[in-house]
Amino acid sequence: MKPARHAMVVAGTDTGVGKTVFAAALVRALGADYWKPIQAGLEGPTDSEHVAELAAADGDRVVPERYRLTTPVSPHLAAEVEGIEIGVEALQLPAGDNSLVVELAGGLMVPLTRSVLQVDLVASWRVPVVLVARTTLGTINHALLSLEAMRARGIEVLGVAFVGDENGDSEITIAELGKVKRLGRLPFVDPLTGDALAAEFESNFVIEDFK
Ligand SMILES: Nc1ncnc2c1ncn2[C@@H]1O[C@H](COP(=O)(O)OP(=O)(O)OP(=O)(O)O)[C@@H](O)[C@H]1O
Ligand SMILES: [Mg+2]
Repeated sequence: MKPARHAMVVAGTDTGVGKTVFAAALVRALGADYWKPIQAGLEGPTDSEHVAELAAADGDRVVPERYRLTTPVSPHLAAEVEGIEIGVEALQLPAGDNSLVVELAGGLMVPLTRSVLQVDLVASWRVPVVLVARTTLGTINHALLSLEAMRARGIEVLGVAFVGDENGDSEITIAELGKVKRLGRLPFVDPLTGDALAAEFESNFVIEDFK
């Protein structure tokens, strides 16, 4: 039997924590493909477009979204508003030989339908997760809750990738109380270019942690 494709999920403790930017750095460092299964909100550059640019990944390496929803709200509601039914069976990992980085929509407990949470979809994929967490106040609570939700479903967690300014105590506390590896911290990159992002990823993360 063909071995399963090497894949990992980039999950966030919340929406807007820096998943797309971190995923772009990871995609570039691994030479991986990228997939955002559900994009809710099509104003401005989508996450796929952002990653294609930051990771200098050509069209072939960015797998098209399975659901492109116009309304920038939770997928379950965007789908309802647009008269679409999100089918979990339609969200299986795309086949391929290259490594795949999958970015979730918002946080783990986001509903995809009135009866399915995103974290349950992740559990069905049986691939490990990198949890992206911000470093600002509130992150310990969000990160520990996210870890608990994943552990309760038997999801393998590779570790936590922090995004933002240094906050040593929060990072150490999450790693200790959450019994999880601190993979590194991506600082804010300004101006945000693919090359500057790649340099920060290389100095702050160990690529073997993701292989
Ligand atoms: N390391 C970084 N350096 C500079 N800007 C960043 C960094 N991380 C995130 N940002 C900026 O913060 C904003 C939110 O980041 P991002 O889009 O990656 O979040 P997200 O978790 O993917 O959000 P969503 O839940 O909408 O997918 C964006 O404007 C992004 O450019
Ligand atoms: Mg994103």
